[in-house]
Amino acid sequence: MTHETKPVDALSEAEAKAELVRLAQEIARHDEAYHQKDAPVIADADYDALKRRNLDIEERFPHLKLADSPSEKVGAAVAEGFGKIVHRVPMLSLDNAFSDDDVRDFVNSVYRFLGQLPDNSIAFTAEPKIDGLSMSIRYEEGELVTAATRGDGTTGENVTANVKTISEIPNRLPAGAPSVVEIRGEVYMAKEDFLALNARMAAEGKPTYVNPRNTAAGSLRQLDAAVTASRKLRFFAYSWGEISEMPADTQHGMIEVFRDWGFPVNALTKRLDSIEELIAHYNEIGLARADLPYDIDGVVYKVDRLDLQGRLGFRSRSPRWAIAHKFPAEKAATRLTAIDIQVGRTGALTPVARLEPITVGGVVVTNATLHNAEEIARLGVKIGDTVQIQRAGDVIPQVLGVVLSPDDAVEFEFPTVCPCELKTQVIREETAGGVEGVVRRCSGEFACPFQRKEHLKHFVSRKAFDIDGLGDKQIEFFYDDTLLPIRQPADIFTLAARDAANGLQRLKNRDGYGETSAQKLFDAIEVRRTIALDRLIFGLGIRHVGEQTAKTLARAYGDWASVHEAALAIAAGDTAAAEEMDALDDIGPAVVEAVGRFFGETHNVDMVDRLVSELTIQDAEKPAQDSPVAGLTVVFTGSLEKMTRDEAKAMAERLGAKVAGSVSKKTDILVAGPGAGSKLAKAQELGVRTMDEDGWFELVG
Ligand code: IVH
Repeated sequence: MTHETKPVDALSEAEAKAELVRLAQEIARHDEAYHQKDAPVIADADYDALKRRNLDIEERFPHLKLADSPSEKVGAAVAEGFGKIVHRVPMLSLDNAFSDDDVRDFVNSVYRFLGQLPDNSIAFTAEPKIDGLSMSIRYEEGELVTAATRGDGTTGENVTANVKTISEIPNRLPAGAPSVVEIRGEVYMAKEDFLALNARMAAEGKPTYVNPRNTAAGSLRQLDAAVTASRKLRFFAYSWGEISEMPADTQHGMIEVFRDWGFPVNALTKRLDSIEELIAHYNEIGLARADLPYDIDGVVYKVDRLDLQGRLGFRSRSPRWAIAHKFPAEKAATRLTAIDIQVGRTGALTPVARLEPITVGGVVVTNATLHNAEEIARLGVKIGDTVQIQRAGDVIPQVLGVVLSPDDAVEFEFPTVCPCELKTQVIREETAGGVEGVVRRCSGEFACPFQRKEHLKHFVSRKAFDIDGLGDKQIEFFYDDTLLPIRQPADIFTLAARDAANGLQRLKNRDGYGETSAQKLFDAIEVRRTIALDRLIFGLGIRHVGEQTAKTLARAYGDWASVHEAALAIAAGDTAAAEEMDALDDIGPAVVEAVGRFFGETHNVDMVDRLVSELTIQDAEKPAQDSPVAGLTVVFTGSLEKMTRDEAKAMAERLGAKVAGSVSKKTDILVAGPGAGSKLAKAQELGVRTMDEDGWFELVG
């Protein structure tokens, strides 16, 4: 199973990290298809599932959340109408090296590939890897004719008008230049210009940008070239595409020619002869990095001789003659000015360090996560301290430790009430072993304004109410909508009536809806007005009450009135009711406590009452009490011939048995089909009653 198909719970940290990157890319692709090309390529529900998976992984691994996570994105990029340009020579990317050993491997592989060359006889160039966006600028008869972004490497966007506004890029080449030449290099924004632009945006009350690279990209992709012109963009030339005649036969020779033609080239570029020299140069650039006026994220090594480059050639997406030696996570020190509390979608309270803005790894960092109160204690951070922070890849910056603590630094006190308007009690849950967990949570659940929107998304999700055409995106839309708001589940079921009463503001006339799609939504909602008890219980989003627990509760209590009565009794402190629920299979004190807490909150009780008054709730099938296997624990193993595994499980559960996955002392019956192995052996060893499929049918009649 690849990490793309694994359930979130089964992902390792490394897999989760890779998966977050993949999801971000895929979601961005769909956003683009949807918003910019107006041509979505997947169903909304599938899109929602991607977003949901992203959120679930982020919830499990909060520290892996990407700085530009799809869960943080608001709105859509402006629709764009750039033409496409097919690159005559594809724009490839580079392989990465992350350690000195990777660099050695690269150099050795070059020697091995070329064969029979004496040590240190192949020269390499080492160039800073500029963190901007690559551009291919085509000149014909000395005139700039087109400029294209990299795009997918094969086809880029035509941004000619915008590139012509960049003063560092010549519009004409001097006489003697080849009749056709494509100059390739990096468009970037200097740190200083980025900070000045952001200061201006902030002063005008406009949203600020995350980092110079994204700003440069955004500035170039403006339909109005006047906007591009107002942003100070710069350029470094380092490569070429189609060219009618070669003016030099080495990489560094080409760079010198570019400089003579009037292009900026990077002054830190060097020609070197050995692995040791490459690594020494890399270290030197690394030391200078923070003080450079622009962002870099590594050093690119290239075989200098172009004839050797030609012999080495390409792998599918990258040249064999070059590699990017990346820098490790960048660290920096800055002052921690405050610690704020953020409430997540599950009500978890996360302390966030507010920092004096500082550029780390090409991003202006103003916040870093502190995870929880224990982390604050472990680091010993106080407000006013100078702290060391780190940003690795695109994840949220972390606080590594205290560098300096002035006398007037102030100890942080973790709040005991939620910052939400309900000012509810902050609770610290106990983990299974009765140990206090590190996470503090707002007890407001559905009533907490920070949690409500996410609860609603859960409510409409596939395993809960599963309403067609009402997913995360639509919840976002309706939640903040002033005409037809959905602020709690009952609002979903009054939507059609409210719409009908709403005269001119009919949904069918609203953005994104027409006559058919509005009616389809109302129909889909109507279908779910009749709902299975377990789906309703699951949909409420009570902590610890997952799909399975909801099924257990539904089966045990049978109908909504009984579930409701038990829940209210538990909330009121009725110990008999709590014990009764606790005694159910697979249900422990954490569930009972969570149910009690949920129904102890009046906002939740009102919300549920309003919802239930809109619904027809189907009773659960009560398990038989009088069946011969009621109360017994059954394990199925081997291949079953008369029923599928799911059928067998459902049948046993209907008959009041509990189905387990492995054999233990608690197992009462093992049903073993052909091919049964270790489970059968274990059952025999433990003296568990064992039978085949026919025996099972005989037993249950
Ligand atoms: S050479 C065929 N040189 O890094 C090789 N790329 O990871 C073409 N980059 O898409 C690339 N500085 O945007 C090269 N000195 C440099 C570079 C550089 C930055 C970027 C470029 C490329 C990416 C590959």
